[in-house]
Amino acid sequence: MTEKPTLLRLAILVSGAGSNMVAIARACSEGRIPAEVAVVICDKPGAGGIQRARDLGLAVAVVDAAGFRTDGRLDKPAFEAAIDGHIHAHGADLVILAGFMRVLSAGFVARHPGRILNIHPSLLPKYPGLDTHARALAAGDREHGVTVHFVTAQLDGGPAVIQSAVPVLPGDDVASLSARVHAAEHIIYPMAIQWLASGRLQWNGGRPTLDGKALDAPVRHA
Ligand code: GRF
Repeated sequence: MTEKPTLLRLAILVSGAGSNMVAIARACSEGRIPAEVAVVICDKPGAGGIQRARDLGLAVAVVDAAGFRTDGRLDKPAFEAAIDGHIHAHGADLVILAGFMRVLSAGFVARHPGRILNIHPSLLPKYPGLDTHARALAAGDREHGVTVHFVTAQLDGGPAVIQSAVPVLPGDDVASLSARVHAAEHIIYPMAIQWLASGRLQWNGGRPTLDGKALDAPVRHA
């Protein structure tokens, strides 16, 4: 009898449509990533990603941020403890932020050292934060793109793993540019997770290596 290898387990955190979550789940089920989706955690009850995850037969946990507010203020430790509860209950090893629209606290990050990845729709360090497509268009950039990076306590500032650039074309608006970036996201996010899940990518105490070599700059995907 052949034993099934133990697969790494992913907790995917989403707030929106969940197209990256779907791309990652597909890559897992097709064997392109040696991992399985343990749970999809969403902080917004109406988010499209919830139904998409259910349609794929994935476990879903909704941690509604609204339930952790008193007088309009979010009790972040309690909110993050609830998220951690689902991560642990589902035995997840890696935390994959896929359009999760909240900044995680330093405490949360410290509980998962080198085990949290994020995808950010810009060529970091350009345009950390929100509205990246509009900012690239307003600046007249001819190139835009997307970055997968390790998450640290610094917003969109952890070590970058892989980037993909897309052209900004004449006549582009936020919708057309964001669609082009999304297509690149669905390619490079599964790649980065594959590297981490297979051990090719190592956190190495905050100085990541890929195939044993220092990752001083992110890999540029054509
Ligand atoms: C993506 O553009 C990602 O880069 C950003 O949020 C968006 C999520 O899109 N962090 P989706 O929900 O995966 O479709």
